[in-house]
Amino acid sequence: MTSAAAAPWWHGTMGYEAYARSFADGDGDGIGDLAGIAAHVGHLAWLGVDALWITPFFRSPGFDHGYDVSDYTDVDPIHGTLDDFDTLVAAAHGVGIKVIVDVVPNHTSSLHPWFLAALSDPHGPYRDYYIWRDPAPGGGHPNNWVSHFGGPAWTLDPVSGQYYCHLFLPEQPDLNWRNPSVADEFDAILRFWCDRGADGFRIDVAHALYKDEQFRDNPLIREPEQLTDPGEIFQSFEHRYDLDQDETVDVYRRWKRIVAPYQGILVGEVGTSDPVRISRYVADGALDTLFYLKPVWMTWQPLVLLDRLRAVHELNPERISWVVDNHDSSRSVSRFGGGEVGAHRSMAVFTLMASLGGMPFLYQGQELGIGDGIIAPEHLADPVATRNVGAAGRDGCRTVMPWNDGIANGFSTTSDCWLPAEDRPLEETVAGQIADPASWLHRYRALVAYRKATPALWTGEATWMDTPSGAVGALRRHGAVTIANLADETVTVELPPGLWSLGFASRALGETEATGSIQVPAQTAVILEPA
Ligand code: BGC
Repeated sequence: MTSAAAAPWWHGTMGYEAYARSFADGDGDGIGDLAGIAAHVGHLAWLGVDALWITPFFRSPGFDHGYDVSDYTDVDPIHGTLDDFDTLVAAAHGVGIKVIVDVVPNHTSSLHPWFLAALSDPHGPYRDYYIWRDPAPGGGHPNNWVSHFGGPAWTLDPVSGQYYCHLFLPEQPDLNWRNPSVADEFDAILRFWCDRGADGFRIDVAHALYKDEQFRDNPLIREPEQLTDPGEIFQSFEHRYDLDQDETVDVYRRWKRIVAPYQGILVGEVGTSDPVRISRYVADGALDTLFYLKPVWMTWQPLVLLDRLRAVHELNPERISWVVDNHDSSRSVSRFGGGEVGAHRSMAVFTLMASLGGMPFLYQGQELGIGDGIIAPEHLADPVATRNVGAAGRDGCRTVMPWNDGIANGFSTTSDCWLPAEDRPLEETVAGQIADPASWLHRYRALVAYRKATPALWTGEATWMDTPSGAVGALRRHGAVTIANLADETVTVELPPGLWSLGFASRALGETEATGSIQVPAQTAVILEPA
């Protein structure tokens, strides 16, 4: 166990993700901005979160809503100015909240000056900032790699006759991390934001930076069934050569040395599911923590979910950022069955996650127990949806944060928002739920407060307990027992010896004490402490 004096600041904290375009609009143009976020840090402080991750707000043509960066050290005018960033940092720090900036090192925008120079001068220094390959012998794409967002991972530059690699949109060319100049550029970018007050970085597709030196074909696992679903096509390959190369982890050891003097945290988005491969990213001075994304991608399969959480937790007890929601997937309330049932399942899972150590993150609106927003097909904005016929895309989880039942749910002063969606009723808004002590918002707030006040939930050894069913996960720590019953019926779980009192429950329960065993209702998690 780390001693209190040596513990990093993030130990025992709760993070919160704000999707920059949709959290709050300060200037009334219908797009979220830094001023809007600054105006709402009070909500985050009231909720009790410790660190705020803001999705990219840098200059960007917006083909992937900010994840296509054309200037890493300036704020896009739609999101404000560098002064607004300073104001936001001051506001957040003023209420004890750290600010985590989202850095996008795998690719730039195709309109970034580096890529424009690489195109216009194939013999100049910027060409090698990107990944270029000649056509395959006989013509065509250099290999069989596919883009996450549909189609091949290669686009032809007709002038030079070479292809460039893009694991996402053609407007997001991948950087060549084998070129030392690229690493130097990112060192400077990290220092820039640390010097401006950032407390760390969320690292976009952190597992993707290096590619196989020989650009070998990825093995095909199975023929995809849904040829309209880019996600399924992507998953039909084993990503042996385009993702998760051994060298990638060294980048984060280097970055850690840069952010350490600022006490900066590195939180990686590592989209691999193998617990052993995952562990490498948080070993030996690399990332502080990483998002384990399987729970964000899954439909409701409690046995699989618990099995995976346990496997990852057992290998990495302190170094995972547990998440059930983010801006890339349907909200867990919808994915887990919708309505009250989905909301109870989602909170039961998150209550267990809050007991696993590491640094869990809430995604904006998760604290309201809400499902996906409803968007008319003609208003879909995510390139995954607009460029692939029949693909659902990621817009449902990106509709505006519902603050109240006013114009645009209080997100903006205009109803003409970047992602028009049906208004939510008062009971799905912050204002409606603050007024109701029995609301999801109050229950999430109670969970955050209970976790903070209970170091037993994030320190010391944790042991997974035997349970009557694979749909029940139970974890014992010194001084706390968490039981998540993800089954559809009440279960009885044996308790360690002694009298236990209920510290937190994901739904209102009558019982407050138990000895010998406890009955836990369906889709409910409880945290017990010695009475
Ligand atoms: C981000 C996505 C983005 C993609 C490409 C992901 O991991 O979370 O929103 O589209 O990276 O940058």
